[in-house]
Amino acid sequence: MHCCQYYMATGEGDPSFTVDVPQFTFGAGCLAESGAHAKGLGLKRVALFTDPRVARLPHIDTVRKSLTSAGVDCAVYDEVTVEPTDASLKAAAKFASADRFDGFVSVGGGSVMDTCKAANLYATYPADFLAYVNAPIGGGQPVPGPLKPHIACPTTSGTGSECTGIAIFDLLSMKAKTGLMSRRMIPTVALIDPLVTRTLPPTIVAASGFDAMSHALESLTARPHAARSRTGIASQRPMNQGANLWSDMGAREALRLIGQYLVRAVKDPADEEARANMMYAAMVAGMTFSNAGCHLPHGMSYAVSGLVREFRAPDYPPEEPMVPHGMSVMLNAPAVYRFTAPACPDRHLEGAQCLGADMRGAAPADAGEVLAKHLIKMMQATDFPGGLEYVGYSASDVDALTDGAYPQQRVIKNAPRDVSKDDLRGMFRNAMRYW
Ligand SMILES: [Fe+2]
Repeated sequence: MHCCQYYMATGEGDPSFTVDVPQFTFGAGCLAESGAHAKGLGLKRVALFTDPRVARLPHIDTVRKSLTSAGVDCAVYDEVTVEPTDASLKAAAKFASADRFDGFVSVGGGSVMDTCKAANLYATYPADFLAYVNAPIGGGQPVPGPLKPHIACPTTSGTGSECTGIAIFDLLSMKAKTGLMSRRMIPTVALIDPLVTRTLPPTIVAASGFDAMSHALESLTARPHAARSRTGIASQRPMNQGANLWSDMGAREALRLIGQYLVRAVKDPADEEARANMMYAAMVAGMTFSNAGCHLPHGMSYAVSGLVREFRAPDYPPEEPMVPHGMSVMLNAPAVYRFTAPACPDRHLEGAQCLGADMRGAAPADAGEVLAKHLIKMMQATDFPGGLEYVGYSASDVDALTDGAYPQQRVIKNAPRDVSKDDLRGMFRNAMRYW
């Protein structure tokens, strides 16, 4: 069966795709169900992961009380760092290994949920740290078996980490962004409570919302799964398998919601309808890219965040210079889509249309420009930085950014067209200033 021309398998291409999603509950107040879910999973004592900022918010108390009233004992680990490193993951794994936990609960943003996944992995199947890390940096060993149950409760509307089997971190010795990736690491249960975003400042809503937008748009425009060589062993089909019929469905819906609600959610913290819809869209986008894979905006982002000098984003922890993940992704996006559009112009036009762009007179030859212009309009409407220059880079950094991003071949190869080092250089140059 060939469901559409984009997915026609050729030669060695894989005609099949696999979808993994966790059980999820979405709705106002559902954090208070965490205890019942833990009890339902048969848990008696859990490690509760969070970070120092979230630890001061009422959400942690809500979860702790819910666990206690369900008869589930918990120990809190609140030392998660905003950008996890191998050192911070090892510290978290040590905590997880030092007690007889039979399950995990995470309450926080992507860093918290990712750290919890890694702690669960290394506590359940101890190994040399690099053993499970993505090749070629690590050994890329498969996770040997099921992990302990993990209930993931996001407090930002962006990463979608509650639905993915991915944990991203900085490997300090190599100054490289890499990660752990396995279906085994997908949380068992995701609890998405839109009430938690009431306290989020606008900069975080914008950066995390654009991260979600990019997850959806990169999935929609990713290389088709049928263009990837089949592995021969179905269970080894990678999660970043490329665009597929199911991820298209998620991408379209996430983009429709994000186009409708992102600017509203940033502009007005009291707009509960907008913030709830962004929370839902981020979850859908998380499931989508978890089963399709991202490409260039994310691949390039790791160099943008890794080479930061002095930039500090408002509302983020001020101690260290940092380009927040969603910001480092989005700043590349218009330049990327101008480059990738010729490979699948219809998908770029569809993405723009889902986001609410003015499509009058738009032809396939205009696809990259139509999409890029609409993304720039959304960036301006949310007072977002207008390019890499706004976060401290200049033309003289293009080579360093390119050298930093080029090794991210796992994601770069998921782009809909081949990417040379010169192409990458050109995209970084074009991402310096949009207005
Ligand atoms: Fe992301």
